[in-house]
Amino acid sequence: MLLSEKPKFFGRRKGRIIRKAKTTLLDAFLPKVRLKDDCTFDKETMFGKKVEKVYLEIGFGNGEHLAGQAKNNPNIGFIGAEVFQNGVANLLSLITGIKEGSNLPEDINLSADREDNIRVYDDDMRLLFPRIPDGFLDKVFVLFPDPWPKKRHASRRFINPDNLKELSRVLKKGGILRVATDHKVYKSWTLHQLHDCPDFRWTATCGNDWKHEPSDWVETKYQRKAIREGRKPVFLDFERI
Ligand SMILES: C[S@@+](CC[C@H](N)C(=O)[O-])C[C@H]1O[C@@H](n2cnc3c(N)ncnc32)[C@H](O)[C@@H]1O
Repeated sequence: MLLSEKPKFFGRRKGRIIRKAKTTLLDAFLPKVRLKDDCTFDKETMFGKKVEKVYLEIGFGNGEHLAGQAKNNPNIGFIGAEVFQNGVANLLSLITGIKEGSNLPEDINLSADREDNIRVYDDDMRLLFPRIPDGFLDKVFVLFPDPWPKKRHASRRFINPDNLKELSRVLKKGGILRVATDHKVYKSWTLHQLHDCPDFRWTATCGNDWKHEPSDWVETKYQRKAIREGRKPVFLDFERI
């Protein structure tokens, strides 16, 4: 893809309704945590505090995993990329504690129990890749990506050779790419794609390593939906070698 070309995005950017509190969060609070266009990728300055490591979550959906990880790991900086505005608004609600019906203060801030360790990229992750320096990231989460199960839509799957090339470039050696999915086709697709990519090694040594949630896991909306509907999620960790 040429840098000047905007990649085609096939998912939804906006749901039908964004209610009042979330609209206010998008207007008044998102600018405080948005990854700025001129942001320098520097662990000392890009978050509200100096961080030891930086993790990236691609397609964070409603943001439960991102908000939970950021709370559990206050010394790690998190970049979250999500195209769907309603999802971005939900993340903002989780990290400010402001819900529909809450009083909306004039100056909206993070909840008192949170560090300023999240930056939000509210657009297509493929546009952000070129800005991230080589080896900058320690971990990348791609959780329950849209499966695009039809063969003719396979090129839309996020785990693909072009994106793996970028993921391998931005992850440091020894860094982890975690892919979770509840979809059989996406599971074998991911394993094939990663098998064909010499920069990654699947870390699993037995079924227990990928059939169960990793110890640092935070549950997501799609995971709950999968379990409710009788599908078994898998958790695939790949090391950047
Ligand atoms: C099936 S949802 C899963 C959401 C969340 N990870 C979870 O587990 O609940 C996939 C999400 O990825 C987002 N997404 C897909 N492609 C993306 C891209 N190129 N950049 C940013 N977000 C993307 C979609 O908007 C959608 O919210």
